[in-house]
Amino acid sequence: MVSKRLASVGRSGIREIFQMAGEGAINLGLGELDFDPPEEVREALKRAVDLGASKYGPTAGLEELREAIASLTSRCTEGIEARNVLITAGATGGLLACYQTLFDPGDEVLVPDPGFVVYGPDAILVGAKAIPYVLHEEREYLPDATEVEALVTPKTKAIVVNSPSNPTGSVLSAKIHKTIVDLAVDRDIWIISDEVYDRFVYGTKHQTFCNAHEKSIVVNSFSKSMGIPGWRIGYLVADGALVEEISKMQYYSLACPPTPIQQAVLMALPHHERFIGEILPILDRRRRLMVRLLNRIPGFSCEMPKGAFYTFPRYDVDIASRKLAEMILGAGVISSPGSAFGGMGESHIRFSYAAPEEDIARGMEIVRSVVEKIG
Ligand SMILES: Cc1ncc(COP(=O)(O)O)c(C=O)c1O
Repeated sequence: MVSKRLASVGRSGIREIFQMAGEGAINLGLGELDFDPPEEVREALKRAVDLGASKYGPTAGLEELREAIASLTSRCTEGIEARNVLITAGATGGLLACYQTLFDPGDEVLVPDPGFVVYGPDAILVGAKAIPYVLHEEREYLPDATEVEALVTPKTKAIVVNSPSNPTGSVLSAKIHKTIVDLAVDRDIWIISDEVYDRFVYGTKHQTFCNAHEKSIVVNSFSKSMGIPGWRIGYLVADGALVEEISKMQYYSLACPPTPIQQAVLMALPHHERFIGEILPILDRRRRLMVRLLNRIPGFSCEMPKGAFYTFPRYDVDIASRKLAEMILGAGVISSPGSAFGGMGESHIRFSYAAPEEDIARGMEIVRSVVEKIG
């Protein structure tokens, strides 16, 4: 019934577990904040609707919002203008639009393993091929540039990077960031950098790929940093000529990003910093709590993640991660199996600590009792 391309991709392993969950399960599964978005953002959306922002807008997004994002981005990277910014349907929409714009059938794209669940399937959906590169657990889940370089072939068109990383929480060091930029420049490939967690770093610095190379695209989103994942709004920053091409592509899938949502984000942007400043220390406390409790579970080991809001413990209990996630769900806690994030994710399980401390404490207690029964 469906195309071979669609038939050959699976459903998201994160969603599968989430959809099996019953009422009242403790949610350490989905990648979304438990905090409400700031009041200003909610009020701004109501105002935008009342002001009649209900018409189609430009395919690339509202000019004022593109300008505002350009000027925010210019604080870290000089020379970014509105023409370099495209408003997208979240980072998910931005990533697929990049793939659709850049890849021909047979092109190869290097993707992190373990890595976020869309990088591989998106390649299949556009007829390209995802080639996984390993994030080494023993090296803080960072890639090895020599190994990555060995995967580059004449068909390689791009490398996807994601720092801070989902699911590992790793953050690229300046040194490894440079090796990736050098590699992309030397081998003339695109960098598609997914930076949706750029604001979620703890005691370390985020390294952006914005303007790091003529061929770099930074994909970002307001889902995480404004707490509005259901509003489906994000953006990407790239060379102006490429932005026009991605915009041409975006017309065919989206026509335009949602107008009232863009108006609301624009009005709420001045409150963005404050929101991040309020939630980050809370997330930091939760991060430490979860790691401490995970390391008390027999057979579990978890390094302290430096970014995002996930832990990705390894376990040495003899059970597939999907089965373990199902058993944990049966006991009332939603998690995500490591296998959802690629072959290197097996024997791991992902927990989100964007949840109240009581939920984390109770959730870890439940995981512990499930593991002890298997043990
Ligand atoms: C690394 C990463 N990229 C992209 C996304 C999708 O973000 P959005 O809601 O903006 O589509 C997520 C969501 O969990 C993510 O973790």
